[in-house]
Amino acid sequence: MKIGIVGTGNISSRHLNEFNSIKDVEVEAVCDTNEKNLNKFLSNNQNINVRGYLSLEEMLNKEKSFDGISNTTPDKFHKDTTLQILDYGYNVFCEKPLAENYEDAKEMVNAALKSKKINMVNFTYRESSAYQRLVEIIRSGEIGTPRHVSACYYQSWLTSNKWGEWREEDKWLWRLSTKHGSNGALGDTGVHIFDFAVNAVGDIKEIFADLKTYHDKGSKIKDYILDANDGFNSLVRFENGAIGTITNTRYATGHANSLILEVFCTKGGVKVELDEERNKWSTLHICNDENINKMSWDTIQCPKTASNYQNFIKSIQTNSNLQPDFNQGAKIQKIIDSCIKSNDNKSWIGINN
Ligand SMILES: NC(=O)c1ccc[n+]([C@@H]2O[C@H](COP(=O)([O-])OP(=O)(O)OC[C@H]3O[C@@H](n4cnc5c(N)ncnc54)[C@H](O)[C@@H]3O)[C@@H](O)[C@H]2O)c1
Repeated sequence: MKIGIVGTGNISSRHLNEFNSIKDVEVEAVCDTNEKNLNKFLSNNQNINVRGYLSLEEMLNKEKSFDGISNTTPDKFHKDTTLQILDYGYNVFCEKPLAENYEDAKEMVNAALKSKKINMVNFTYRESSAYQRLVEIIRSGEIGTPRHVSACYYQSWLTSNKWGEWREEDKWLWRLSTKHGSNGALGDTGVHIFDFAVNAVGDIKEIFADLKTYHDKGSKIKDYILDANDGFNSLVRFENGAIGTITNTRYATGHANSLILEVFCTKGGVKVELDEERNKWSTLHICNDENINKMSWDTIQCPKTASNYQNFIKSIQTNSNLQPDFNQGAKIQKIIDSCIKSNDNKSWIGINN
């Protein structure tokens, strides 16, 4: 199967390696409007046969046919590039967040539905086998009804240089600037933690959010105005009656990339803690049955599950759209928009109002 990639920056090499590791699947062409980034990608991958182009249009016109295209452009380009890919009749695997706002996300959902093409959003942390087991346990009702949820996403690239110098690299600077199409931590990583919580517990009914931008880190670097939020706290009420907190920050010193989800139900509790190295991605903790009165937790090792990349290929092969699809991406986008509204109005916002 032939795959193309739009945008050859930071995350594109993961897409390349993941797709190329699947039997009979190969990334054959890539494009980037930034020649330097395109050439860097091509020179890093001289061992494989991949053709490079300087625009999506050129790639779409010069290549004969694709089975699917991965969209790894920055957030603000997702909509236009995805609509173009769908317009050419190709299945699309789009990076998160699906769009910059719900309206745009909905337009992408409608275009995907109209084209009848496979559409997926890369909510990476769904790939954790422990998380998938957690979802199954909650949905089965075996530990009762969800009552209390705590979901945190911790990064620390504003206080550490583990991933490079944020003041110097465009790939971090656009994430700090609303003019460059970023909704800050909320839009960048908040989408992951909302998807994580909502997919496990159920839809959110209403939300109260407090977004924070720390201005002491400076107001402008190159043409990037550093006005996007660096983190947020939110209080949520789920449709099923559970309540919870969903939080995210880029100032969590000591955490490169951690997602922690704890769901306490009427007959037990479950939790997962993922970290950057993926060594905890298969470990689930559960407290139920006789352990409840002992305050003791069992640790369950969950067998590896399919990646989002494998699920995208499987969806194409079976013509049956696996999750997370664009509709889920749009649902999460609506929560992001509601957080911004709540922060501006300092009030609770009903998600479906
Ligand atoms: N799923 C995850 O866990 C995860 C992790 C990292 C990044 N991402 C997402 O991936 C996307 C890219 O992030 P990144 O860190 O790789 O950014 P990046 O800035 O490193 O790379 C983006 C590339 O896209 C190129 N580009 C911009 N507009 C283009 C266009 N119209 N056509 C072709 N190329 C274009 C840029 O020149 C750049 O080379 C973002 O939406 C980000 O949120 C997701």
